[in-house]
Amino acid sequence: MKNILIVSSEAIPYIKTGGLADVAGSLPKYFDKEKYDVRVIIPKYKCMDEKLVPQLKFACHFYVNLNWRKQYAGIFKAVNDGITYYFVDNEFYFAGDKPYNNIYEDVEKFAYFSKAVLESLPYIDFEPDIIHCNDWETGLLPVFLKTTYGSDTFYSNIKTVFSIHNMRFQGRWKMREVADITGLPEHIFNSNELEFYGEANYLKGGIVYADEITTVSPSYAEEITTPEGGEGLDGLMLERRKHLSGILNGIDYSVYNPAKDKYISCNFMSPDKDTNKPYGKEVDKREFQEKNGQKADKNAMLIGIVSRLTDQKGFDLIAYVMDEILETTDIQFCILGTGENQYEGMFHYFQSKYPDRLSVYIGYSEERAHQIYASCDAFLMPSLFEPCGLGQMMAMRYGTIPIVRETGGLKDTVEAYNEYENTGTGFSFTDYNAHDMLHVIKYAESVFKNNKKAWNEMMVRDMNKDFSWDASARRYEALYDRLTEK
Ligand code: ADP
Ligand code: GLC
Repeated sequence: MKNILIVSSEAIPYIKTGGLADVAGSLPKYFDKEKYDVRVIIPKYKCMDEKLVPQLKFACHFYVNLNWRKQYAGIFKAVNDGITYYFVDNEFYFAGDKPYNNIYEDVEKFAYFSKAVLESLPYIDFEPDIIHCNDWETGLLPVFLKTTYGSDTFYSNIKTVFSIHNMRFQGRWKMREVADITGLPEHIFNSNELEFYGEANYLKGGIVYADEITTVSPSYAEEITTPEGGEGLDGLMLERRKHLSGILNGIDYSVYNPAKDKYISCNFMSPDKDTNKPYGKEVDKREFQEKNGQKADKNAMLIGIVSRLTDQKGFDLIAYVMDEILETTDIQFCILGTGENQYEGMFHYFQSKYPDRLSVYIGYSEERAHQIYASCDAFLMPSLFEPCGLGQMMAMRYGTIPIVRETGGLKDTVEAYNEYENTGTGFSFTDYNAHDMLHVIKYAESVFKNNKKAWNEMMVRDMNKDFSWDASARRYEALYDRLTEK
């Protein structure tokens, strides 16, 4: 049996701000349970889902030295859906109303978290062969492991995997302060290790010190080795290329299932199998439109967006052509998201200008996300860059056709519609250009309106695609095997 500890700053069902939580909380369920005992450790945030807190049972406590600071750490434990989760408790660090806040606070919070995870190992009932870290928040863990704990026999055989979910967020802060927070040896703050343009860089630490690096799609694994996608670390990624693999994310088919989803009004299957009359997905669309003040017009293409509202997701393209889309078509939009003020304001503005065409919900809602995936005809993700993207896969599972920019995981999961061969699973454009996006949206609308047969066949193809974790979990298993057999 191989013991794997997944370390993450968020994981469903306890706390989620984006796709990292989906991955950390769903991937562990898909390993071969005879061979791999995969557990997850996350911070015990005060803002986590309150309903689940009573599940958590106190396991032990100890103190963590962060240079001259000595901080309390409690460990709680819970089992959810067959997976064991551990939680690091410290109310000084984790009492905020959201998991992430100012970077100068986060660098200390997550240095503490990484160290607390390592310190917890002799106290909990689990000795990992591999620690699998995720994103910059856990980037210092492999660094601590190989420096601070390097000569300790308890730790010396543990291997590390570091998964990059987003190269843009690196956890960069003043070197002197990071050295003071962490107590890491001064000599590692050099340009081959932790230093990056005069600052300390947590993501770089993870990339340099982990035994193996993964990212969440094959295309993104290529892109981060180039100046366009490397966010300044492309040279390092090239150097570490032999240890870098792109493993596509999956989605949890038991959670995203149109035939069983409890959040939607009418369950349905693919159009060729559904026996409901009228078709269940159409019922969901009508109800969604009615409930949200949109005209209940089944012939108006309803486009969904469920997203963090940041520039990564391509919202400036939408801002640029939204008037043109709404004035030259009868397309409707439903938007669910939260994030930067400028994009929240933009969607509010368009909603007030076109009240029966747009429904906008600024906030976080699992229920509404499922309703959008189920009720819409199309799903828009015109991302500037996208390491993997889960929204497009969730949409496809519900027969909602993705319209995406060909980048990262969007390129790997959406095959462009070919009207001559009647193939493909969605619509895509290459250049980050608002009119190119407008053009494919209009093209999608023309297929939706004038070629229902082709549209329905594409829905069937999308719903039959396998985006479950099965294939990717096998690839992680192979990576874990390679590492432990060395
Ligand atoms: P990212 O991780 O970059 O935010 P992904 O597409 O990988 O993008 O994952 C986003 C995840 O977060 C999906 O599960 C999506 O449904 C969910 N999500 C994003 N915004 C919201 C929101 N406002 N309410 C509910 N779920 C959301
Ligand atoms: C990041 C990326 C997203 C990816 C997710 C899970 O947040 O932006 O593309 O799907 O992580 O890996």
